[in-house]
Amino acid sequence: MVGTGYVGLVTGACFAEMGHHVICLDVDANKIATLNNGQIPFYEPGLEEIVKRNIEAKRLSFTTNYEYAVKHSYIIFLALPTPSSEDGSCNTTYVMKAAEEIAKHMTGYRLIVNKSTAEMGTVHKIQAHMKQMLSHKERPFHFGVASNPEFLKEGSAVQDCLKPDRIVVGTEDDKSLELLRNVYAPFTINHDCLISMDILSSEMTKYAANAMLATRISFMNEMAHICEKIGANINYVRKGIGSDNRIGYSFLYAGIGYGGSCFPKDVKALIHASERLGCPSQVLKAVDSVNNEQKLKMAYTIEKYFESKGGLKDKTIALWGLSFKPDTDDMREAPSLQLINFLKSKGATLRLYDPIAMAVAKNCLNDHTSIHWCKDEKHAAEGSDAIILVTEWKQFRLLDFGPIIKKMKGKAFFDGRNQYKACDMHAHGFDYYGIGVKPLVHKTE
Ligand SMILES: NC(=O)c1ccc[n+]([C@@H]2O[C@H](COP(=O)([O-])OP(=O)(O)OC[C@H]3O[C@@H](n4cnc5c(N)ncnc54)[C@H](O)[C@@H]3O)[C@@H](O)[C@H]2O)c1
Repeated sequence: MVGTGYVGLVTGACFAEMGHHVICLDVDANKIATLNNGQIPFYEPGLEEIVKRNIEAKRLSFTTNYEYAVKHSYIIFLALPTPSSEDGSCNTTYVMKAAEEIAKHMTGYRLIVNKSTAEMGTVHKIQAHMKQMLSHKERPFHFGVASNPEFLKEGSAVQDCLKPDRIVVGTEDDKSLELLRNVYAPFTINHDCLISMDILSSEMTKYAANAMLATRISFMNEMAHICEKIGANINYVRKGIGSDNRIGYSFLYAGIGYGGSCFPKDVKALIHASERLGCPSQVLKAVDSVNNEQKLKMAYTIEKYFESKGGLKDKTIALWGLSFKPDTDDMREAPSLQLINFLKSKGATLRLYDPIAMAVAKNCLNDHTSIHWCKDEKHAAEGSDAIILVTEWKQFRLLDFGPIIKKMKGKAFFDGRNQYKACDMHAHGFDYYGIGVKPLVHKTE
């Protein structure tokens, strides 16, 4: 498993859990040292246990050494970063660099499987590059290539990986398909969810899946905006439409925009690819721009609220939740970051709390002036003029708001995830703002 990040480590550990022998390789020597000490470099529920168990069983090991890993592996998965380039296109530098290292150290047939989300054509690019490199060797080794996009979700990655809804496999020769069927056999005993297709379709499937999910979110955020204007409630609308089984309930939540390491970059990459191919995607351009606006919409609502109260300068704002979604410490493209920068630029002081992502958040924010790192959500609320719920961690669901509001300086609550009922929060004494719901604000004397 080349790349020992969220995807590589989880998949590698789950392969080992199913009985395969897995070598996880990474160029980050600190990460490998951490793993060799039995520690997990990021938070993912259930991962530590299976990593430890499989290290002990000698099915899972970690290295920075390509020569060793390539020599001792028959099937090599790539789970590498594919960030956005400046123009939004998919940057495949890491993937190509890894393919080069593999070709350099091959000692016989290998199957190279790309798990990283990469633009359509990447696997063929890997194939051509490796072929060219191997043609310079004394013995040109055969190799197979495949695309096998990953659909795990951070926060439930271990379960997603052990019990996948579907395993998409893109191959163009029988041997590669057969090898992948064998790798995944322990995962498909109960129901055969392996979907086999050609390589380009497999690469496109991953982009289309993420684009569809991002589209649902931006669509709901736009509907929420209309609801706010007319005084309707998006929470009812969501229930009303989700009950239609052609629509379903998943991914219908209005909020402060999607973030994370995948949706923003994958939507941008597909927009870029569609333009390059001469069939620009109007829908995805709108999805991206609605999301960019949505991330700051809450910030503008907060600014407006404080306009009549002397502005945001010297106000104290509490943020509950910092990671891009619950059950992860991943801060990549987290909406909290934009919100924090905006509020700081207006002179506000921030009291921040996240159940798991505090250490990662501290590393992400270069400037810690005007930031207080708090020990829990109640501590963050103390002395604040407003609370913003940014990430819907479960521990924020059932809180006793009476004592919380008593210790605040102000009484504003901005619910970025529509976790609370406006009337309940109003009854507690809050001026309540959600997304796509009518604000409930106490009259000023
Ligand atoms: N994170 C997710 O939820 C998720 C889900 C599905 C798909 N994906 C896709 O999977 C891929 C990996 O994502 P991730 O979140 O695991 O990334 P990550 O940044 O957490 O991990 C990538 C790892 O690769 C290592 N690396 C970089 N260059 C290397 C090289 N040349 N050789 C060996 N290791 C190298 C890095 O040090 C890092 O540890 C991306 O394409 C992403 O879009 C991610």
